[in-house]
Amino acid sequence: MTNSQNKVLIFDTSLRDGEQAPGCSMNHEEKLQIARVLAELGVDIIEAGFPIASPGDFEAVQTVSREVRDVTVAALARATRDDINKAAEALKPAARPRIHTFISTSPQHLNHILKMDQDQVIEAITDSVSHARGLCDDVQWSAQDASRTDTDFLCKAVETAITAGAATVNMPDTVGYAVPEEFADLIREIKNRVPNIDKARISVHCHNDLGLAVANSLAAVVAGARQVECTINGIGERAGNCSLEEVVMAIRTRNGYFNLRSDINTTAIMKASRLVSAVSGFVVQPNKAVVGKNAFAHESGIHQDGMLKNAETYEIMTPESVGLHESQIVLGKHSGRHALSKKLQELGIEVGDNKLNDLFARFKELADKKREIYDDDLYALADDTILRRNDTVQFRALSVNCGTEGPQSARVKLEVDGEVREENAEGNGPVDAIFCAIRKIAPPHPEAKLQLYQVHAVTGGTDAQAEVTVRLEEHGRSANGQGADHDTLVASARAYINALNKLLLKRERSSPDADAARDGERPVGI
Ligand code: KIV
Ligand code: ZN
Repeated sequence: MTNSQNKVLIFDTSLRDGEQAPGCSMNHEEKLQIARVLAELGVDIIEAGFPIASPGDFEAVQTVSREVRDVTVAALARATRDDINKAAEALKPAARPRIHTFISTSPQHLNHILKMDQDQVIEAITDSVSHARGLCDDVQWSAQDASRTDTDFLCKAVETAITAGAATVNMPDTVGYAVPEEFADLIREIKNRVPNIDKARISVHCHNDLGLAVANSLAAVVAGARQVECTINGIGERAGNCSLEEVVMAIRTRNGYFNLRSDINTTAIMKASRLVSAVSGFVVQPNKAVVGKNAFAHESGIHQDGMLKNAETYEIMTPESVGLHESQIVLGKHSGRHALSKKLQELGIEVGDNKLNDLFARFKELADKKREIYDDDLYALADDTILRRNDTVQFRALSVNCGTEGPQSARVKLEVDGEVREENAEGNGPVDAIFCAIRKIAPPHPEAKLQLYQVHAVTGGTDAQAEVTVRLEEHGRSANGQGADHDTLVASARAYINALNKLLLKRERSSPDADAARDGERPVGI
């Protein structure tokens, strides 16, 4: 195999399919931040959004196109001229634009969603792909629900898309139904039976409903696919998408087996994982492959003994290869602004001067209460400070009355659109009292319902910072918020406020199209 034949392109769809995960919402600044880290990671293609779905998606594609230059930026479009025109418009500033248009091909989708027959689908493929090619040199076509599609028809559809000008043909396992050998066979059938397949690259896009997204993607590359669509931490619709870090590290670690490569700078994996977790509000499970807190931890005596003798005994990849360094005691209460800024640089945390001031203030506050500040403390503080600066509702102060002698009550001070306001509330426990007080001050969300409240300690020890995740739901829209603080109740208030801000943003971003999509008009998987 030549060097170019064995390269697998990495197409990241964290900003599009990832953002469609229930409860996930990313604002503009956060999407741009993620796109920059994806570029640093070396992904080949960033799918930045679905421009027709909402003004927020349109702007995200436009901004990423303008700001992130060394990477192909893709925008999603259904097989309609309006969708495709909108995608092309959003991609105008891109150095390397790609229109990604798709249509369903399975009988389930044709009969129940599209209400089209196979001939009509073929006609739509010719029309949509050739229209997209008229607007953009790089066109990708996807057969939604490919894994449940009749193979003869799928081959005909792929041939049609290539004839109309698609340079990449993507085979999604939209509902996560495939199993590895069968999926590999499908890719082989396409390779062997589509007469013009040599003019296109085969791509795969696997969902994780049966926990097989990575296995299916790897089986597909063995069978000849040369692009994998994936997301950081595997976020995405339902059970999520193929996880970028897992597929990339499998190809790298088992190079002798796959004889393939990607151009991912794997040492940026942890940075990308932390950022996506903080922005999406989805805590990474401790035992998650590659990026979980325990992925490189050795607890049992036998394992620890082996590791001390030689790390190869129980480690198939090094923590450093994914950008993980032992959490060090880094700073204390006497450390200055300069030391903090230097440490942030070392950890790859980018902050502008204004944000550094905020972060330094929070750091000093923490250092007064907690003797030793670790790397992980800084990551948590940085996420908390950086991602919340533009929030409409900002946390200012909290005092709580709790314990066995009720009633439990809270006094909360917030800044809403520049105006500082305070409220008292009683509740069923201190957390409930805090949330009630916040709801009194921030009236745009009187009906927001709490769906999830989760606390975890950032480091060990009783003086550890708490990281709290809160999920709120209002009229079918949900949003996750996060907050970190040395005081669990303050972290809870911050997390609740963060989720409220995200709901507010979601409301602003909603367009009739986005609402239709949410209400079920958008076919499954998009
Ligand atoms: O899951 C899916 O089928 C998709 C396509 C739009 C690529 O996300
Ligand atoms: Zn998908």
